[in-house]
Amino acid sequence: MKTVAQNPGLDGVIVGESAICQIDETRGSLRYRGYAIEDLAEQATFEEVAFLLLHGELPSSGELHAWQAELVHAGVLPIPVRQFLEMVPSSSHLMDVLRTGVSFLGMIDPEAQDVSHEANLRKAIRLLARMPLLLSWTIRSRYDHPLLQARATKSIAENLLYRLTGRLRADHAKELEVSLNLYAEHELNASTFSGRVTASTLADLYGAVTAAIATLKGPLHGGANEAVAEMFHAIRKPEKAKAWVQSKLTGKERVMGFGHRVLKHEDPRAAIIKRRAKALSRHMVDTRWYEIAEIVEQTMKEEKGLLPNLDFYTAVIYLLIGIPTEAFTPIFVASRTAGWCAHIIEQQDHNRLIRPRSSYIGPPMREFLFIYDR
Ligand code: CMC
Repeated sequence: MKTVAQNPGLDGVIVGESAICQIDETRGSLRYRGYAIEDLAEQATFEEVAFLLLHGELPSSGELHAWQAELVHAGVLPIPVRQFLEMVPSSSHLMDVLRTGVSFLGMIDPEAQDVSHEANLRKAIRLLARMPLLLSWTIRSRYDHPLLQARATKSIAENLLYRLTGRLRADHAKELEVSLNLYAEHELNASTFSGRVTASTLADLYGAVTAAIATLKGPLHGGANEAVAEMFHAIRKPEKAKAWVQSKLTGKERVMGFGHRVLKHEDPRAAIIKRRAKALSRHMVDTRWYEIAEIVEQTMKEEKGLLPNLDFYTAVIYLLIGIPTEAFTPIFVASRTAGWCAHIIEQQDHNRLIRPRSSYIGPPMREFLFIYDR
């Protein structure tokens, strides 16, 4: 077998073909199945985006209607999973609850082991419908808030907002929906890649999504949006923002929500979410977080030449619409489940085991000595 030069972070390495997402880092463009993110983010519903990712085409109105009915039908947590959630310690990280909850769902799904295209699609629908439930059940019971029933006539974004905050507000649900559309897919990011590696062994979809959630949790990936909110809380006032950033950079610390492995010029998702964060802050007459964010952005540009990624201004939106900080990364999960499942299905439809090589740097060949000779 021919081996090629090593590349520790796999920067720029093409490991396969995919028809799901196209990133053009030089033009700063992002497309899902050929559609520009600028069109999908604000004009499509999350249900349409998830359908597009999983089926390859936007739904007709009849298909969308049937798809929404399937999601509503699947939006129930099986009793053993509810029993598991009742046992979860209140100190546990929500990403760990989701990871374990998905693993549990896989353990009791009679179709779990079936890796056919049709079975994988059915499981993807169940996961899309149940991920927001795993999250909202845990959050509501953690704070002793009554569990709220989803409204069958409402969208995934509206129900998620309602179940997390107790409020049904169409304008805030729209902000959440735009963020769900932006988070839904991003080519071979770390979590999607880890899901595809797992799927490539023909392990089941739940196992692959479990691996993806574990990967997304880290602050260099999905965990960044929570870290951004914590940073805003730590800064507290716009006039303190510049010095705060400078002291972090002097201490060689990373400022979360900046930089991207692929998008070195501009993250097209960040431009959309920034514009919305600005408009929402003005509309709500609460510009504190946005003002802090703009100073942090300006300082990072001056000091490091780094630009904000999607996670940065998403934190402003989530703070304004009252999402608890611990739910930020789990919301990313609820959305990226669409992209993960599309990739897992694509992987298993055209499977080849993903098994790269490493360059050995350990001790040279040496003689084994029995225990009494050492
Ligand atoms: N704050 C301060 N310095 C940074 C940052 C940052 N956020 N990002 C990169 N750098 C510096 C880094 O210290 C290094 O500097 P030097 O060459 O002086 O040592 C240089 O930029 C290159 O860093 P790198 O780690 O080699 O670059 P990368 O392409 O591997 O990093 C990244 C990508 C996302 C891991 C990194 O930018 C980072 O840690 N960002 C903060 C975490 C974050 O916001 N993650 C969300 C990513 S986007 C949403 C998602 O897909 O999850």
